[in-house]
Amino acid sequence: MKLVVISNRGARFDPNKPQSGGLAAGLEPVLECSGAVWMFSSDILGDGTEKPLLLEKAGKGHVAKLDLPVAHYPGYYRDYSNSTLWPALHSLSDRMSRTQAGYRSYREMNDFVARAAFGLQDRDAFWVHDYHLFPLASDLRKLGIEGPAGFFLHTPWPAPDMIKLVSNHRELMKSMLEYDLLGFQTSRDVNNFLACLRSHLGLESKDVVVISERGQTRCQKFPIGIDPKQFAEYLVADLSPAEQEKVSSSLKIVEGTTLAIGVDRLDYTKGIDKKVEGFNQLLKAEPRSISLLQIAPPSRADVEEYQKYKNEVEGRINEVNAEHGTDDWSPIQYKNESFSQSALARLYRAARVGVVTPLRDGMNLVAKEYVAAQNPKDPGVLVLSKFAGAAEDFNDKEARLVDPNRPEEIREAIWQAVNMPGEERIGRWRSMMDKLEAYTIHHWSADYLRELDKSQVTAAAVT
Ligand code: UDP
Ligand code: G6P
Repeated sequence: MKLVVISNRGARFDPNKPQSGGLAAGLEPVLECSGAVWMFSSDILGDGTEKPLLLEKAGKGHVAKLDLPVAHYPGYYRDYSNSTLWPALHSLSDRMSRTQAGYRSYREMNDFVARAAFGLQDRDAFWVHDYHLFPLASDLRKLGIEGPAGFFLHTPWPAPDMIKLVSNHRELMKSMLEYDLLGFQTSRDVNNFLACLRSHLGLESKDVVVISERGQTRCQKFPIGIDPKQFAEYLVADLSPAEQEKVSSSLKIVEGTTLAIGVDRLDYTKGIDKKVEGFNQLLKAEPRSISLLQIAPPSRADVEEYQKYKNEVEGRINEVNAEHGTDDWSPIQYKNESFSQSALARLYRAARVGVVTPLRDGMNLVAKEYVAAQNPKDPGVLVLSKFAGAAEDFNDKEARLVDPNRPEEIREAIWQAVNMPGEERIGRWRSMMDKLEAYTIHHWSADYLRELDKSQVTAAAVT
């Protein structure tokens, strides 16, 4: 089957080049091992007449970069995708834009991307990724494409009373039934989606199959993984001089204290503010005990809620550093920049605690990467939000699970992690590492594509 993978964001295919975002990180190894073409935005805006540019070979696969039309980009990306859908999908209605602009541009953009995909040669099946492109299959079908089309959502899917706050939610969900296979990160997301179909479209499912006018759509969970072997290789790979310098300067500052690490795009879903609060409480109780290296690459800076959040987080970090720091030490090292994964692997390894406390997250790959980068003989402890998808994979006997809305729980968990005996750390880590090795990113994509392939058979049975 000649596969076309489509997403808004793509990868950079260079272990020494900084990037951020789980979608790009997750799909990069998939493409390198498959013969697929991955089409994504070139980051250059055009007038809407451009065709995708088939570019460099990435492993066995190819990349096709597409200039998106400037007229629809703000409505599509900033407004509808990231000011309406993103907060709703993460059940954070307070962060949703009240105007909910951009739907028309969002649909126009999907139509444009569908036409670009239609123009690609060798396309038997489509695998579409994330909320920017929910209705893409309906546009592909309008162009006459009947072959298998699958979708994977990297974010959570919320409950019916949350999705109903999104303008055009019914139309959107109806368009999603044009896919043969809808993939979600966790069982909770699958159940929420099926509940939304029932509440808002009056559609019942049988097991995980929904029948609509078009045919069958299967809704299943595929918890995304990482490539733990690759992370082990990153630990010993050469770093570019620039990345080496970033790693050394990040580690020099914390000498002499226990190191905790946080790696989150600067996004309000990541709960960085609550983490800083938990840290503040810990420093009050145990002065000069621990340092936090918080890497927070810029994200979606054209969205107002992100600008507000950046100011809040940075203001609070400055206050905490002023209160607890000394002439030679700032307890929170804040890096508002992106690191390469090879650099991250070294920083994860150096940290005794990985603090991953999103308010809500589809999966959270950082949690898995932190585990993969640990020293088996002296591993660190993962403090993990119970609202991250990863908490469906790692239980409380493995990670130290916390409610991310409660700084006092974060404080307690970090302190427990710092003082945890080696034997317990090894036991928790081994169990998580076994899971990472048993279900890697390659199992994830193989499972998904096997299921997508089945839709050819079921479609024939339905007609
Ligand atoms: N990442 C990176 N450099 C950075 C920060 C993050 O390469 O400076 C990568 C990180 O290794 C992970 C991904 O970005 O693979 C973040 O994925 P996650 O699922 O944790 O969160 P998302 O950003 O997708 O919400
Ligand atoms: C999350 C989303 C991805 C997105 C990434 C980075 O991982 O699920 O779709 O690519 O964040 O965000 P950005 O807006 O920069 O693509």
